[in-house]
Amino acid sequence: MIVIFLGPPGAGKGTQAAYISQKRGIPQLSTGDMLRAAITAGTPVGKKAKAVIDAGELVSDEIVAGIIADRIDEDDCRKGFLLDGFPRTLEQARMLDDIIAFRNRKIDVVLALQVDENALVDRLNSRIQQTKDAGGEVRSDDNVETFRKRLEVYSTQTAPLIPYYRDQGLIADIDGMKPINVVSAQIDSVLDGLS
Ligand code: C5P
Ligand code: MG
Repeated sequence: MIVIFLGPPGAGKGTQAAYISQKRGIPQLSTGDMLRAAITAGTPVGKKAKAVIDAGELVSDEIVAGIIADRIDEDDCRKGFLLDGFPRTLEQARMLDDIIAFRNRKIDVVLALQVDENALVDRLNSRIQQTKDAGGEVRSDDNVETFRKRLEVYSTQTAPLIPYYRDQGLIADIDGMKPINVVSAQIDSVLDGLS
């Protein structure tokens, strides 16, 4: 099962993908987490990605598509995988189509999580507060200014993926304004309905 989680920053992609990954035993591939790990490890990709992420912009299509292509060839992706945060541009979506077709596989569904913009900023503020309360380190791009940039990048570069995948009949609309467990239930029922 190949599932794409699509939605603006703070929509709950990571939370829901983690739930589905746990429940169905298929890996969650979060390009954001992979890039942050590369930054921490100080790899060449990490060195390039740091400034881009801190500016709320996007790492190049070639770099992220390459990371994903390598990752899905690992053994644990044989049964399927969940894409959280990729693709983010139309070019990435086309590259992903090629990567998947080349491996004789297909995308099963694209979950489009819909959340109001005001709610996203509220969620960001509570994510910052919760991280601080827990004594954790707030992400360098989790501040209101960078977040606004991330939202703008989402609407100009990523939102066009919704009509792209809708034309292919792959979109399942998910109401991301509901409580976490209700959103999880909506997603479960979409995935249960896949043949
Ligand atoms: O997906 P997530 O919100 O964790 O991504 C955090 C940041 O990582 C993005 O704002 C962007 O700068 C970078 N990123 C990217 N390309 C991706 C995924 C993440 O440039 N495919
Ligand atoms: Mg995330």
